[in-house]
Amino acid sequence: MALPDWPYPLWIAHRGAGTLAPENTLAAFRLGAAHGYRAFECDVKLSADGVPFLIHDATLERTTSGRGSACDLDWGALSRLDAGSWHGRAWAGEPPPSLDSIARFCLRNGFALNIELKPPSAEAAKATGRAVAAAAATLWSGEARPPLLSSFRPEALAGAREGAPDLPRALLLDELRPGWLDTALDLGCVAVVCHHPLLDAASVGRLHDNRLRALAYTVNDPAEARRLLGLGVDGLITDAVDRFSAGPGVRD
Ligand code: G3P
Ligand code: MG
Repeated sequence: MALPDWPYPLWIAHRGAGTLAPENTLAAFRLGAAHGYRAFECDVKLSADGVPFLIHDATLERTTSGRGSACDLDWGALSRLDAGSWHGRAWAGEPPPSLDSIARFCLRNGFALNIELKPPSAEAAKATGRAVAAAAATLWSGEARPPLLSSFRPEALAGAREGAPDLPRALLLDELRPGWLDTALDLGCVAVVCHHPLLDAASVGRLHDNRLRALAYTVNDPAEARRLLGLGVDGLITDAVDRFSAGPGVRD
């Protein structure tokens, strides 16, 4: 049976442009785009007043000038933080972006987006998934290619299904736990995004047999990229936007 249509590019820049620019900032997206990337992954949480914004960690210290829990501040305070200086002086003053601003950048340029739902805790998973999905549905309303919503937390994906049933979902896996395939199918996912060593002929075959796409994160090694491409994976999330051409080949 043929796989359903898949509107996303094969190569996806991780956290904007991974490690070359401060992750999860608009500057990182611009750098990834300058390297030819047309699809991006980012991590999204909710501010205390419910605004979806980009940050990976549950706390602010590593990637911003702030302190404490990322989701304890209102958007007004978060938006005034410096999310660039930690990476280098050239990026000083780069703010954490809202999902709204990233959506405008992607839509204006025809770029695809993979929104990783990144709740700070298990307790916050469902509400985060619901609210971010609902916001994404509004931002991409009427657009031909919706964002792909992914999460390690099934509860976040269940929330996303409630908030925006029509947006595509993907289960993220760092290991193949018992029942992983049924979890993805039960959540109505269109894809599973695996830590790259988990993908082999058997796991890719099981996914494709069940009409699910197989994506890998975070692929930075050319030999591993070739192995995965040989398996017929549907997407590779990478930090190495300067090493891998965003076309179908591998440049090294
Ligand atoms: O979405 C793939 C990848 O981003 C998952 O891991 O920790 O980089 O968000 P992490
Ligand atoms: Mg991520």
